[in-house]
Amino acid sequence: MNAIEYRNVRMAYGDKVVIDRFDLDVPQGAFVTMIGSSGCGKTTILKMANGLLHPTAGDVVVDGQNTKAVDLTALRRNIGYAIQGSVLFPHMTVEKNIAYVPSLLNKADKKRTAQAVAKWMRIVGLDDSLRGRYPAVLSGGQQQRVGIARALAASPDILLMDEPFGAVDEITRVSLQDEIARIHQETGITVLFVTHDIGEALRLGTKVLVMNEGAIHQFAPPEEILAHPATDFVRRLVGKERQRGGVQAR
Ligand SMILES: Nc1ncnc2c1ncn2[C@@H]1O[C@H](COP(=O)(O)OP(=O)(O)OP(=O)(O)O)[C@@H](O)[C@H]1O
Ligand SMILES: [Mg+2]
Repeated sequence: MNAIEYRNVRMAYGDKVVIDRFDLDVPQGAFVTMIGSSGCGKTTILKMANGLLHPTAGDVVVDGQNTKAVDLTALRRNIGYAIQGSVLFPHMTVEKNIAYVPSLLNKADKKRTAQAVAKWMRIVGLDDSLRGRYPAVLSGGQQQRVGIARALAASPDILLMDEPFGAVDEITRVSLQDEIARIHQETGITVLFVTHDIGEALRLGTKVLVMNEGAIHQFAPPEEILAHPATDFVRRLVGKERQRGGVQAR
């Protein structure tokens, strides 16, 4: 069973075609990392999975349902979306930010919402003392953790992440990587994760999608990408990282 299927997808902005004949199956429970040159269409592909964008042609099928024919509010309830940068509500505390979706869903059940907030703060490594703080007085890494906790708090089956760890320092990034890998293992959630860091792509992905200019160069487990790069583009990408000594699959 696939969590997400792209079937012969084409996407044009005006008369500029950015994706054409794009096919991809994201199996349930997979952690797919997506890497490719800037502007190759990664964010566009991600946004088609929760109906923020619709393909110009072709179909995107999520949990067996075509995004063209499905109620988007219901679809998004089941899909967490975490992006780079501050996307928190500035006038809401950490607690309110994380509780935003669960409290919409369990309006009457405040206790359940509070428990969910506590659980997710612990999982992403946020100290409980930060509950009442506002986003402006959090570090960048803490803000990203709140964003991830908020995306996860509604217990979605699918998590879309668009360069979620881009703006943090190396140490914070490694600890966030460890946490997301653990969350994936513990919950069995399906993850589609965009990164521009090949080390991160190989480290986190159960499968890695390498793209260039809207075309798929390789879609394979990290070991296979490393051992048998399918094109020169993939070889160069992996080669640079090899020289840095940073390549390590989980
Ligand atoms: N709303 C839009 N209108 C017109 N062109 C757009 C729009 N959104 C994206 N594009 C163009 O489509 C192409 C793909 O954009 P997309 O954001 O999907 O790339 P990306 O792979 O996520 O890039 P990056 O790595 O820089 O985030 C780019 O050339 C971009 O300029
Ligand atoms: Mg992008």
